[in-house]
Amino acid sequence: MQYLETDHVRLNDSKDKVRILNQASLPNRTEFLDLSDEKEMWEAIYKLQVRGAPCIGIFAGYAMAVLARQIIEEPSEGTKEEQSALFLQKLHEKKEYLNSSRPTAVNLSWALERMEQKAKELVTRDFSNIADLLCAEAERIHEEDIAMCRSIAEYGLTLVKDGDGILTHCNAGPLATSRYGTALGPILLGRERGMQFHVFSDETRPLLQGARLTSYELQKAGVDVTLICDNMAGMVMKKGYVQACFVGCDRVAANGDTANKIGTSVVAVLADYYKVPFYVLGPCSTIDLTCKSGSDIEIELRKPEEIKEMFYEEPMALPEVKCFNPAFDVTDHTLITAIVTDRGICYPPFTESLQQAVDKWRL
Ligand code: MRU
Repeated sequence: MQYLETDHVRLNDSKDKVRILNQASLPNRTEFLDLSDEKEMWEAIYKLQVRGAPCIGIFAGYAMAVLARQIIEEPSEGTKEEQSALFLQKLHEKKEYLNSSRPTAVNLSWALERMEQKAKELVTRDFSNIADLLCAEAERIHEEDIAMCRSIAEYGLTLVKDGDGILTHCNAGPLATSRYGTALGPILLGRERGMQFHVFSDETRPLLQGARLTSYELQKAGVDVTLICDNMAGMVMKKGYVQACFVGCDRVAANGDTANKIGTSVVAVLADYYKVPFYVLGPCSTIDLTCKSGSDIEIELRKPEEIKEMFYEEPMALPEVKCFNPAFDVTDHTLITAIVTDRGICYPPFTESLQQAVDKWRL
């Protein structure tokens, strides 16, 4: 990331806190938060101070490592076996608590589960070094994400040509992941190679990740970016300004149905109507083969204030007006041209191609 000198989610030097760039305060203030308390960690995810599916997974890995160190440092009595069992029980409770912060992005539960499994393996093997070894596991999750984003960027770049217009929704750039990002990866990689794309960034109501984060990241990276309101996407497609849509994903079901930020499915319907290819980009860690279709994906519902009050000087609706505020929607697989993963580009039928990508990833 050219506008940041270090990773925006990482451990502090003494490895007892997770340091995050507070994404809720962007683009106006660049501030970092040091988190060691589990409640603060839960809130950081819920309040979108740390957000984006892969980034939440990276954060969850570091959070578990920090919380594990705290448990180890608490005074504890009993035999070694009793101490190990108590450690695992406390870590499990913290894992469940963090997992309750946001339901839709699979990367959260995936990373928490991976850290718990690692802890179970380590208690019998090297309990005395477990805190450091869990830090190393969290760092591995992070490093793997960097590699996955790079690979997605390379595959995605083969789908567009220099000068193309690309529309994106929400934020699936470096801030939502590590380094290149997913949906923005090909654009940033292309820019590094001297290519220029014309990117239309939906502002992405209600929390404005497109305006606050995507246009910020692309502008800082020297990409030609134009901010539009969500309801302008159809017009820019009709005018022929857009040759491809690139969006991220929070959970991809086995049949290719994809959950992503609310409004993504509207973009997909428009793209279908205007014959613009619609690409979903995401790492294999976002594919959840236990969900057969999109109807198995839990959609997070958020507070009405985000629609009525946030970002306004005064409330924009009467207090008694009802709101429906789902944070994500599911794009039907029939509207998706291809799903670009770190293990290759998956085309329909997705049930087969996604399974193949996941098999390669698990090798
Ligand atoms: O609510 P958010 O900001 O966490 O939602 C983020 C998205 O929907 C992203 O598009 C998705 O997580 C992919 S990030 C690579």
